[in-house]
Amino acid sequence: RHGSTQKTIQMSSETQRLVGELLVGSSVSVGSSSFPSRQGGKQVLPAGNIEKSVSVLEIDSAKEKLNAELLAKQEKMKDSANVKAMQSFREKLPAFKVKAEFLKAIANNQVLVVSGETGCGKTTQLPQFILEEEISSLRGADCSIMCTQPRRISAISVAARISSERGEALGETVGYQIRLESKSSAETRLLFCTTGVLLRRLAQDPKLTGVSHLLVDEIHERGINEDFLLIILRDLIPRRPDLRVILMSATINADLFSKYFGNAPTLHIPGLTFPVAELFLEDVLEKTHYIIKSEFDNIQGNSRRRRKQQDSKKDHLTELFEDVDIDSHYRSYGRSTRESLEAWSGSLIDLGLVESTLEYICRHEGDGAILVFLTGWDDISKLLDKVKVNHLLGDQSRVLVLPLHGSMPTVNQREIFDRPPPGKRKIVLATNIAESSITIDDVVYVVDCGKAKETSYDALNKLACLLPSWISKASAHQRRGRAGRVQPGVCYKLYPRIVHDAMPQFQLPEILRTPLQELCLHIKSLQLGAIGSFLSKALQPPDHLAVQNAIELLKTIGALDDKEDLTPLGRHLCTLPVDPNIGKMLLMGSIFQCLTPALIIAAALAYRDPFVLPINKKEEADEAKRSFAGDSCSDHIALLKAFEGWKEAKRSGNERSFCWENYLSPVTLQMMDDMRMQFLNLLSDIGFVDKSKGPSAYNLYSNDLEMVCAILCAGLYPNVVQCKRRGKRTAFYTKEVGQVDIHPASVNAGIHQFPLPYLIYSEKVKTTSIFIRDSTNISDYALLLFGGNLVPSKSGEGIEMLDGYLHFSASKSVLELIRKLRGELDKLLNRK
Ligand code: CDP
Ligand code: MG
Repeated sequence: RHGSTQKTIQMSSETQRLVGELLVGSSVSVGSSSFPSRQGGKQVLPAGNIEKSVSVLEIDSAKEKLNAELLAKQEKMKDSANVKAMQSFREKLPAFKVKAEFLKAIANNQVLVVSGETGCGKTTQLPQFILEEEISSLRGADCSIMCTQPRRISAISVAARISSERGEALGETVGYQIRLESKSSAETRLLFCTTGVLLRRLAQDPKLTGVSHLLVDEIHERGINEDFLLIILRDLIPRRPDLRVILMSATINADLFSKYFGNAPTLHIPGLTFPVAELFLEDVLEKTHYIIKSEFDNIQGNSRRRRKQQDSKKDHLTELFEDVDIDSHYRSYGRSTRESLEAWSGSLIDLGLVESTLEYICRHEGDGAILVFLTGWDDISKLLDKVKVNHLLGDQSRVLVLPLHGSMPTVNQREIFDRPPPGKRKIVLATNIAESSITIDDVVYVVDCGKAKETSYDALNKLACLLPSWISKASAHQRRGRAGRVQPGVCYKLYPRIVHDAMPQFQLPEILRTPLQELCLHIKSLQLGAIGSFLSKALQPPDHLAVQNAIELLKTIGALDDKEDLTPLGRHLCTLPVDPNIGKMLLMGSIFQCLTPALIIAAALAYRDPFVLPINKKEEADEAKRSFAGDSCSDHIALLKAFEGWKEAKRSGNERSFCWENYLSPVTLQMMDDMRMQFLNLLSDIGFVDKSKGPSAYNLYSNDLEMVCAILCAGLYPNVVQCKRRGKRTAFYTKEVGQVDIHPASVNAGIHQFPLPYLIYSEKVKTTSIFIRDSTNISDYALLLFGGNLVPSKSGEGIEMLDGYLHFSASKSVLELIRKLRGELDKLLNRK
């Protein structure tokens, strides 16, 4: 049933005779067993077939042994008390009821779409059903199941969960692989990976050789990688008839996917959820107001201290109403929903209101965990700080407040899932990651701020925007459902009903909301044909202008040639799992011998800023960052120096105090350190670094900050801003959007006179205004040597940059020299 792509094996007639004798009356299967790049699947030959060799027999017996071993282990584990307890939990999940139907459906169909309420057991059970079935039927050796997850954190937590359900250690039969990190072994038969990891694997192995089952999870989220993968799979399926593809989605929109795959069958897992009452802002305000009123009624007889506490509470309420601008909301009832939505479209969320709601629940509602949906790390950490000192939530020893965020380190994961000790209330402050990919069972109350940080892409201005904006009705429904897992629950929606009514049905798919350069690079590296026509096959094809922008950028950085073909440089960039600009910075760092700084800065840009933003110590934190930057006028240098300082502090054993004093996250720094080593390995794989030469061979200029800044320019171009003096101040211009601002958290914020005429930046975002995030002051020479293409200037003298940023005139011989230097550099970058 796995088809037969087996190579036939030649053997001598003498061996044929021998083997023939051995084989009479028995059936033997053929195939090699090395995971994960096996050839094809298993083939059961009729008894007496003698077209086999002794070596095949050896492989066969090794395989049979493995099949038996896998089965024996699985059976043995079933007896352990832990697995038994887990098994009875598993049997209560809705997915368990459809087990037989599911296995039958995948046996009979190549593609299956499965939908079911979040928490019904899709992710943890369905891949496990396949695994158990394959092992029980003695097909364990040949089975290789992959399951993609949109996020790293869910890949790890699900793999860990299934391992413990099976009574195994993580990395035995069940493992995971995420960017730069994996836990798997030769024994692994079920591998969870991020969708990005699978896409990279497709580059090496376009037919996913040896994979027997591929499950694509969370497709309803419509992430860019998942949408991309679906296009590839639709083309791959006819060429891999033995591959089974299972698409998993929350209840939303399963039909859309079924249609896309030529009306593939769908299997719905009926939910098992309790009713969840729904309160909108108007109700929430009434409730929270009510507590305070009744407290005021009781005020007589209270101690002075208590009265004071309540007075401040009253102020808070007044503030609350001011913040929420409830009057204007009620007035807005007379207006159209669209207008009211606009009136409510402020990007902030009201943490005070969230806090009061938490107070209300803790003081007036029964037991049960609270799940709060916020927009990002900023809100989470602010609210964490507030909640920690809020005695109205009850005795601090009785609340357990936990953050949950996609890029959180994976330590303490279990705490989020486990029930808290008796008498303690668990409060989880989460981003929309808790909406569908992570399920916390004991949630009874959901507090939903109604917003999520959403990227959007302004193709006209080539600008990514990252703003909290209203979620869709589908998301709101998901969030609400999280409260009814174990008993009836309540969902506190901190927005008025009218806003809910005006929410879009579904969120726009990510492919329509993000810059497409990484995707386009992937399309080329996977040899999927012309970018435009490939993308037109997507579920919802992206805008033509967005595609053109991406192609143009890839041409500017030299990853694509004029015919839109991948250059050798482009091919190198594909192998580096980072944004193409950051990848180019790494290559330049190795060429120009300032490798270590390039690795460190690239790690920070690809992962996250190690500087933390404490709310009430913002100035001190800014000051710490500035002191790292010195007079470099560079956020990137600040990152580098902070990292070096941390390394030093770690060596001398005072990491903690160093991080504490300088507002740095040790976890992020550690991650950067790991990533830097991984980047180094990748550079060595593609031949840009020869590790045997030792680090000194690549770091001649690592302490030369001007050189480091020039490398930054080479990597980050065309992200350039021109600094123009306007009287006493400096104004900043980009070609695409005109004037921009420097982000207030940058060390360059507030500088009025820069020593050099340009800034290079890693990110331009539109929030309250158009900001450039991390920036570095660079010279025109850096731009001249490492920037975009040069053309003869229109005035006839000298040269200018194609995008017009730079005009440079010099004697013919100097210009000639510059051209030669750039030509040589191009050769280095494009070496094969
Ligand atoms: O994928 P789906 O949302 O359908 O559900 P799931 O992730 O397979 O989770 C099924 C159940 O397993 C959840 O309701 C949790 O009770 C439990 N689970 C857990 O306890 N720990 C995890 N890391 C994952 C799931
Ligand atoms: Mg799931």
